[in-house]
Parts: sequence; structure tokens; C-alpha cells
Amino acid sequence: MIIDGKKIAAKLREDLKKKIIELKSTFNSVPGLTVILIGEDPASKIYVKNKERFAKEVGINSELIRYPENIEEKVVLDKIKELNQNKKVSGILVQLPLPKHIDKKKVIETILPNKDVDGFHPVNVGNLSSGYESNVPCTPLGCYLLLKQVENNLSGKHAIIIGRSNLNGKPMAQLLLKENCTVTIAHSKTKDLKAECIKADIIVAAVGKPKLVKADWVKKNAIIIDVGINKTDTGIVGDVDFEEVSKVARAITPVPGGVGPMTIACLLSNTLECFKRANS
Ligand code: GUN
Repeated sequence: MIIDGKKIAAKLREDLKKKIIELKSTFNSVPGLTVILIGEDPASKIYVKNKERFAKEVGINSELIRYPENIEEKVVLDKIKELNQNKKVSGILVQLPLPKHIDKKKVIETILPNKDVDGFHPVNVGNLSSGYESNVPCTPLGCYLLLKQVENNLSGKHAIIIGRSNLNGKPMAQLLLKENCTVTIAHSKTKDLKAECIKADIIVAAVGKPKLVKADWVKKNAIIIDVGINKTDTGIVGDVDFEEVSKVARAITPVPGGVGPMTIACLLSNTLECFKRANS
């Protein structure tokens, strides 16, 4: 089974659109998302354009603030503080990566936790790991929703996450622990990755290594979620060798068309949640 992230994301956006129409009649306002993009990174520009397009599609008021690569850190932090106070702004997202002279930690910590649609603020990270309500990072949330489509009851499943980033691996582990999975987080120092993977019922690959996961790494009927987006001479490929692995897996996400569309749909969903909380 190929997990159609594009279709599942479209359904999610359709539901969001309906909810936003309902909320508009109740509150006479709609959620607002402000995205800050610094510099000219080509991949970031594409992501941001898609975020804007889909935000508009579901009825979210979307605003893009662009700064040149050499913008002073203080200007960005002051802008975030201003947006924190602006009632029309439900969610703030600062697109990563940032130029080297801007402190990522400071930027993330300046965004109000209640407007942190990325779920990167330490308050949200702590709330997620403690099992409290929080904004959850969009990519792992998207992966989680795809997994739940395939198998609603994940209790007792052995999941391996390849990659331990704050954006993906760590929050993914928290989401799967909440579902009572047994979770392994593998990383660059893991001794025998193949031996770890072959034990798993679920593999979430998020390392940025083209076609790393091979068919003989995968237990029969495992569920495979591929977060990788790697540019190669033969086009964009994931962290999983799709052609091989799709023959042994029970279900697998394609690249593109798997996790990618879900990330943006989850960003829109997080923006709506922030709006609802601010209005409750
Ligand atoms: N750059 C790549 N992925 C992300 C993301 O999920 N959020 C932000 N803010 N920047 C990113």
C-alpha cells in the first residue's frame, strides 16, 4: 500500500476550510499566520510560497515578511515582539535555516509559545514531552497522522526513528510514546542501524541520506514513513529506497507526495488551534 499523503493532506485542508468558515461566523474573524523569511535560500522560498498558497486556500489570513540575508538580529526580534502583541496574528513561523549571524535559539524563544505554530519553543517541547496540550512540530505531526491512517492502534508496536533532530526525530518519539509504542531513536553514532531497523514494525526515516533504508533492513509488513527530501542527479528521492522497500513493506509513503503535503496541512491546523485557544 502506498500512503497517499497528497490526498490525505487535501482532505485535511478541506476539513480545515469548513471549520474556518464556521468560526468566521462565530468570531467575525479568521486565523492569521505570519511567516518570516530571511535571505534567498531556494528551498525555503518554495516552502514559504506553498505555505502561503495553502493558507489562502483554507481561508487563513497569511502574511509574508521578507528580510535580506544581512538583516540585523534585533530587527527580527523586535518584529516578532510586535507580532506577539498583534491580535490579528494567531501564528508566527520563522523559516529555517537562518543566516549564521542570527541566533536561532533567541528567535525561537522570542515567539510566544501560544503563537509558536512550529512547536519549537522550549515551553511547547516540554509540554509535549510531559503529555500536556502543546503545539506539535508540523512534520512529525504529519507523519503521525499518516501512521494513524494505516494503523489506528499503535500500542506495543516497535518503532524506530532514524534521526534525532529537534524538528523531527525527538518530537516524533514523543508522539509515538504517547501511543504506547516502544521507541528507538537511531542516529549517526548508532552501531548497527540495519540490525535495529529489522526489528521494527514502524520505521520513520528522517536523516537526509538518499535511499539509505534498503529492503533487507525492513521486517515484512512494516510501515515505512519517509521524511527525506534529497536532491540527486536522478531527481528528488527519500531516505528510503522506495522501489525495493515497497515490495516488502505493508505501507510506505512516497517522495514526493507523502510527508511533504502533510507538513503544510499540519501547519494550517496548528494555526487554527492557536486561533481557537486565543479566542476561548
Ligand atoms: N525549515 C524546514 N522545515 C521547517 C519547519 O518545519 N519550520 C520552519 N520554521 N522552518 C523549516
